[in-house]
Amino acid sequence: MEKIFFAISGNEQLAIPIAGKLNAEMGEISIRQFPDGETYLRILSSVKDKEVYIVCALNTPNDKIMPLYFLAKTAKEQGAKQVHLIAPYLAYMRQDKSFHPGESITSQHFASLMSSVVDSLITIDPHLHRRKSLSEIYTIPCTVLHADELISNWIKTNVINPVLVGPDSESEQWVAEVAKNANAPYIILQKNRIGDKDVEVSVPNLEKYLTHTPVLVDDIISTAKTMIETVKHLTVLKMSPAVCIGVHAVFAGNAYEQLKEQGVYKIITCNTILHPSNGIDISDLIYLITLSNCY
Ligand code: R5P
Repeated sequence: MEKIFFAISGNEQLAIPIAGKLNAEMGEISIRQFPDGETYLRILSSVKDKEVYIVCALNTPNDKIMPLYFLAKTAKEQGAKQVHLIAPYLAYMRQDKSFHPGESITSQHFASLMSSVVDSLITIDPHLHRRKSLSEIYTIPCTVLHADELISNWIKTNVINPVLVGPDSESEQWVAEVAKNANAPYIILQKNRIGDKDVEVSVPNLEKYLTHTPVLVDDIISTAKTMIETVKHLTVLKMSPAVCIGVHAVFAGNAYEQLKEQGVYKIITCNTILHPSNGIDISDLIYLITLSNCY
């Protein structure tokens, strides 16, 4: 079936090279906002009988959900055979539990909304946390791709004598894998989240590794408080400036600037979200899966 790609809100950086490698068409859409804030959307390319791929990283998701919804619905209305969502960063994965009476389990509701709009989902390292798999909340086929090998390769090529630091126990499985492939030791910290913008991170036990280069690895960098608190401990230990690696460069507000101010050596992220810190290209992961049609 003929494939056609559409990019929403700045996702051309991924969509264009992937479509190019697949020799697929890059579809044209016109999206704008009416003066009252409502969304106008028009599909300018023919989607009839085609397989539609919408590339949309879902950081700051609320601005993107209506255009995404209208695009998927309109594509189906115009005869698209299937509509797939490629969301390199998947939103609304964090609130997976009701901690207080009346609290919305937004991950569940968002999953059910998306499952009603698209036929399948391709994403990279979603923040599963208390869930084992996306199929616990999504009712459509979901393909989860992983950036760990690309991160290991980046570390091997760019960091001399690294020691990896994972921020919390849930990161262990993932950090251990990155460390193994990078032939590097790792340690895992304990994290205590006090509020949306406040975390405490345990003092790393790095006595054995004081001459190594600390490499902080996390899936999401949002407020960057997790990394900032860890870097502060490393500074006390007089270790060399840290390399901070995140899969998803969410960087809320001025989090990026705040992390840079800590005197870190480098901040590197995957291009699941377009950001100046992008240094690890994940486009081939998506290209290969769309080429194989296995989703
Ligand atoms: C949470 O468990 C994640 O793995 C990250 O550690 C977290 O999202 C980082 O958030 P922030 O940058 O706001 O500290």
